[in-house]
Amino acid sequence: MGFQFQCRLGLGTWQMGESARSEAQEITAIASAIEMGYQLIDTAEMYGSGQAETLIGKALQRVGKSTRDHLQIVSKVLPSNASTKGTITACERSIRRMGCDYLDCYLLHWQGSYSYEATLEGLIKLQERGVIRSYGISNFDAPDVNDWLAAERNVGSPYQTVCNQVYYALNGRGIEYDLIPLIQERGMALMAYSPLGAGALMHHPQLSVLAKEAGLTPAQVALAWILRQPNAVAIPKTVHPERLKENLDSTNLVLDSDLLEALNRIFPAPTQKKPLMVI
Ligand SMILES: NC(=O)c1ccc[n+]([C@@H]2O[C@H](COP(=O)([O-])OP(=O)(O)OC[C@H]3O[C@@H](n4cnc5c(N)ncnc54)[C@H](OP(=O)(O)O)[C@@H]3O)[C@@H](O)[C@H]2O)c1
Repeated sequence: MGFQFQCRLGLGTWQMGESARSEAQEITAIASAIEMGYQLIDTAEMYGSGQAETLIGKALQRVGKSTRDHLQIVSKVLPSNASTKGTITACERSIRRMGCDYLDCYLLHWQGSYSYEATLEGLIKLQERGVIRSYGISNFDAPDVNDWLAAERNVGSPYQTVCNQVYYALNGRGIEYDLIPLIQERGMALMAYSPLGAGALMHHPQLSVLAKEAGLTPAQVALAWILRQPNAVAIPKTVHPERLKENLDSTNLVLDSDLLEALNRIFPAPTQKKPLMVI
């Protein structure tokens, strides 16, 4: 069996590692997440210019390196580094910063000027060496996914693209029109970034009312709504331990049909192709 995400909710780390003043809180948040049962962390060489990865390394040291075996870590190569050699060296830098031996999944953060074939050659070499366990893409709309998969065939990859990490939240449902059907058909996981609308949904008045009526929080409704999709993973970011728990608890929630219908009225599904949301 190929690579699978072992859990459906992970911790995002964008905007961590950007200030020395918040470092202690961020390390504690990552360590608390691991201790409370998070099994997936999303990061990127871009976040805090590598500093978010360094904080993950410090959190891993704190909770004990053996926890690494139970954790899946996803990182991303910047498009400007995504030549064959650049992809390999960027991945090695990320791993060094985290004090790890491997990444579970390595993504091309978005499309740049290097050919997909060049990037794929780097990813394939990394996977052959066991430095990564799988690879994927991020911010790829449907036509780009098809081009990427054509490149994967061109280079004769023995592996498969396991996920596409894209914006998906109640306030950004455009990908339901064509991208979600495509990636499901291709057996890829949907990794939903900014699942809380980058925080904006937390203050949405109608969502707050619906959540309260259901005895849930807006974050839990927003996350459980994403996880209704088969093969979807959500990666909310928070630095607050009580929110980490609140978000993780959404993994086991199933929203009833009345609530889903009410959400559809407030946040309608797309009826035509929309540009991919990117933040
Ligand atoms: N591939 C890409 O191009 C891309 C782009 C964007 C994001 N991402 C990934 O996706 C992750 C998540 O996206 P995101 O950080 O943009 O947005 P998000 O997870 O949708 O929202 C994060 C915001 O919501 C707040 N929050 C989290 N849980 C909450 C809760 N239970 N109640 C109230 N507020 C809560 C956080 O504040 P506090 O921290 O103060 O709690 C933060 O301000 C990123 O960290 C990153 O790993 C990837």
